[in-house]
Amino acid sequence: MREARTSMAVEIRTVEDSDWPAIADLTNHYIEHTAIHFGYDPVTPNELRELWWPKRDLYPFLVAADGTRFLGYAKAGVWRERAAYKWTAEVGVYVARDTQGAGVGTRLYQALIDACRERGFHSLVGGITLPNEPSVRLHERVGFVKVAHFAHAGYKFGAWHDVGFWQVKL
Ligand SMILES: CC(C)(COP(=O)(O)OP(=O)(O)OC[C@H]1O[C@@H](n2cnc3c(N)ncnc32)[C@H](O)[C@@H]1OP(=O)(O)O)[C@@H](O)C(=O)NCCC(=O)NCCS
Repeated sequence: MREARTSMAVEIRTVEDSDWPAIADLTNHYIEHTAIHFGYDPVTPNELRELWWPKRDLYPFLVAADGTRFLGYAKAGVWRERAAYKWTAEVGVYVARDTQGAGVGTRLYQALIDACRERGFHSLVGGITLPNEPSVRLHERVGFVKVAHFAHAGYKFGAWHDVGFWQVKL
């Protein structure tokens, strides 16, 4: 795994209550304007918090910040529900639009991978609506390899979208 390139004073920490509005704003940009996120409807800060809070002991949710400035987030969650899948988590990452390409995504994913390893996960899976070169490069930079490609897996904004899955064993 290569080092991140950022020269910013980036702190990576667990999400705090005051982060949810910025997390919702960033997520909603990708819900409302792109097929990167497959949601159709915007999310609220409270919905996001309530999804994560009951699972907080199992799944890490990390935020990158530069002082008080929110720079992005990375999270793990349920991949599939049946019991034997519990050793694999699905991960996701979003970096603030004015900060992309500066190494923050790499820092977030490196910290998320460490946190998931500490919690006993055996592998991580990331689903990427294609094409998305920055995301593919980020996943491969931190050790993920492509394991699946589903054609026309989602329909959004009047078009079918392929989704690739990348996996890393911890
Ligand atoms: C994908 C994303 C999380 C990457 O985070 P980032 O902080 O921008 O990425 P980093 O600066 O750490 O760089 C990671 C890799 O992505 C590449 N990359 C970053 N921005 C890029 C761009 N605009 N075009 C091409 N490659 C890009 C970097 O070159 C690096 O690859 P390399 O090591 O092969 O050079 C971020 O761009 C983002 O939030 N994008 C929008 C939301 C999204 O797509 N999330 C992922 C959903 S699956």
